[in-house]
Parts: sequence; C-alpha cells; structure tokens
Amino acid sequence: MPWFHPYSDFLLHDMGSLGDGITQNRATGWLMRTAPLRGVRKVTALLHDGRARTLDEAIRAQDGQGRRARHRYLRLSGWEKDKLIAFRNSL
Ligand code: HEM
Repeated sequence: MPWFHPYSDFLLHDMGSLGDGITQNRATGWLMRTAPLRGVRKVTALLHDGRARTLDEAIRAQDGQGRRARHRYLRLSGWEKDKLIAFRNSL
C-alpha cells in the first residue's frame, strides 16, 4: 500500500477540445497529462491554462477521455455534487 496518494495517474490522455493544441515530443495537441488532485483545494486557477476557477468548472471542461466522467458528474444531484466537493477538499 503506497503511503502517498497523488490522485493522478500522471499519464497523457486525449482530452479532446480541452487540449492546448501544442505538440510536445510524442504528445499531440489533444494529449494532456492528468494533474494531481492532491492539494487541489488550494489551487484557484485550474486546468493547464487556468481557465477554471472551481471544481465544477474544471469537470465541465473535461472532454475526450474525460467526457464520460463529465456526463456522469452532470447527472449527480446537488447533494452528491456537494459530497464530491467535500471529498476534493479532503485531499
Ligand atoms: C469525476 C471524475 C473527475 C474529476 C473530479 C476530475 C477533476 C479534475 C480537476 C479538478 C482537474 C484540474 C486539476 C488542476 O488543474 O490542478 C482535472 C484535470 C485533468 N483531468 Fe480530470 N477529473 C475527473 C476525471 C478525469 C478522467 C476520466 C480523465 C481522463 C481519462 C481525466 C483527465 C484529466 C486531465 C488530462 C487533466 C489535465 C487537463 C489540463 O491540464 O487542462 N480526468 N481533473
């Protein structure tokens, strides 16, 4: 059991329209590295370009491989969304 839980796989994912359009080595403009969620409660400018100010905005911006998670999030009740934010605040 690892003692450190970064809450990221640190891998490149095809994020569709969220991509920055910049090719770096083998990463095309749609491939983005998963940002660690640990400590993310202290971050006020989320995503690679800081476009999202809240967790809600960051999830709503996820496309490509993150689109399914976005759609599942959008179906949550207000109470369930609050629980997700509370969990995020615990990381
Ligand atoms: C409920 C599920 C998810 C939540 C709550 C979530 C939340 C977040 C948040 C808050 C960020 C911004 C972190 C920061 O800027 O410091 C982020 C970024 C990111 N997430 Fe997710 N995510 C979810 C699912 C996924 C899935 C399924 C994938 C891909 C398979 C994914 C891939 C990424 C990537 C690549 C980034 C970096 C994007 C960028 O820098 O613009 N996420 N996620």
